[in-house]
Amino acid sequence: MKLIVTGGAGFIGSNYIIYTMKAHPEDQVICLDALTYAGNLENLKSVENNPNFTFYKEDIRNREGVYKIFEKEKPDVIINFAAESHVDRSITNPQIFVETNVLGTQVLMDACRKYGIKRYHQVSTDEVYGDLPLDRPDLFFTEQTPIHASSPYSASKASADLLVGAYHRTFGLPCTISRCSNNYGPYQFPEKLIPLMISNAEHDKPLPVYGNGMNVRDWLYVEDHCKAIDLIIRKGTVGEIYNIGGHNEMHNIDIVKIIVKALGKSEDLITYVKDRAGHDRRYAIDPTKIHNELGWLPETMFKDGIQKTIQWYLDNKDWWENIVNGEYQNYYKKMYENR
Ligand code: NAD
Ligand code: DAU
Repeated sequence: MKLIVTGGAGFIGSNYIIYTMKAHPEDQVICLDALTYAGNLENLKSVENNPNFTFYKEDIRNREGVYKIFEKEKPDVIINFAAESHVDRSITNPQIFVETNVLGTQVLMDACRKYGIKRYHQVSTDEVYGDLPLDRPDLFFTEQTPIHASSPYSASKASADLLVGAYHRTFGLPCTISRCSNNYGPYQFPEKLIPLMISNAEHDKPLPVYGNGMNVRDWLYVEDHCKAIDLIIRKGTVGEIYNIGGHNEMHNIDIVKIIVKALGKSEDLITYVKDRAGHDRRYAIDPTKIHNELGWLPETMFKDGIQKTIQWYLDNKDWWENIVNGEYQNYYKKMYENR
């Protein structure tokens, strides 16, 4: 099988490529990535010399460039991870989110129609469902939960999902969609909660917790997400949506405290800052469908995954120091100074 993995130089995409090339060494994997601030070829060092791996620096918004790659490679399966993925950035600059996440998705699906593929898989998010109240622990997102996005990021992902559904129904494009909860693990860009707190704590910098820190996220180790996607593209039913999550809800503040403790730092570093605009309160996925239909279950417990992740960041300081010492400093200043 020949796969095109878009956004394969980012956090989840690179973890997926590393996972699938080990699990299915006979497959050919093509990474198509524009290498935005979030894309990093260092993430793919372990596969770059594999003869079954190819990399193209290309933007999914560039129709001509994307078509050329499809024409040359004739892929069987497309997995679209490519996206602008950070909610805070979508609040300061929504435009690029619509361009990449919506129009880029359309270009990819048009290429699929033109050249013919066996499967188009859209990597979506639980954020398309909006949020759940903190005082209703009995409520979960199912695949039937109506779309109700809160941020420009989640609105762009929801729009893309609607477009995927429309291309399936109108043109018969063989599509699947997965909607996953918050991922954590190696190679996550340090703008996101867990790596940001690790890198700040290591530098004895304040740990900026939004609002009162009581917002809830449902955390999943990235490899479990990768395994779920791999199952969906091989055994999932065309036209279906699959929720992915491991029933692991945590308050943000508790995650920050775990990190502080693991690194032997003081809780005095924790600083409550102005809340994110439109901040979703709680996400919680009901993964019954993917469990019943495809037999997927998360394998990594949070208590193990978080320690493994912290250790990875300690063992790979060069990887994130290179990032936080570069352009990231301007980003950090803009987002956190005077917050
Ligand atoms: P990321 O920001 O780490 O990586 C995104 C990748 O896409 C980067 O390599 C970047 O260079 C590439 N990219 C961006 N714009 C592009 C363009 N126009 N053309 C080609 N490549 C482009 O993101 P991530 O956290 O790995 O998320 C991957 C996907 O998974 C996204 O679609 C996101 O919405 C979804 N998702 C993420 C999470 C999470 O917790 N991180 C959870 C559920 C779903
Ligand atoms: O739920 C899936 C989504 O998870 C994905 O679709 C997104 O791509 C991904 O970025 C993530 O979105 P979140 O907004 O939940 O992730 P983030 O790491 O930005 O924030 C997690 C929580 O931590 C959130 O409640 C905001 C809070 N937070 C975040 C940062 C960066 C802080 O309190 N302080 C911070 O500095």
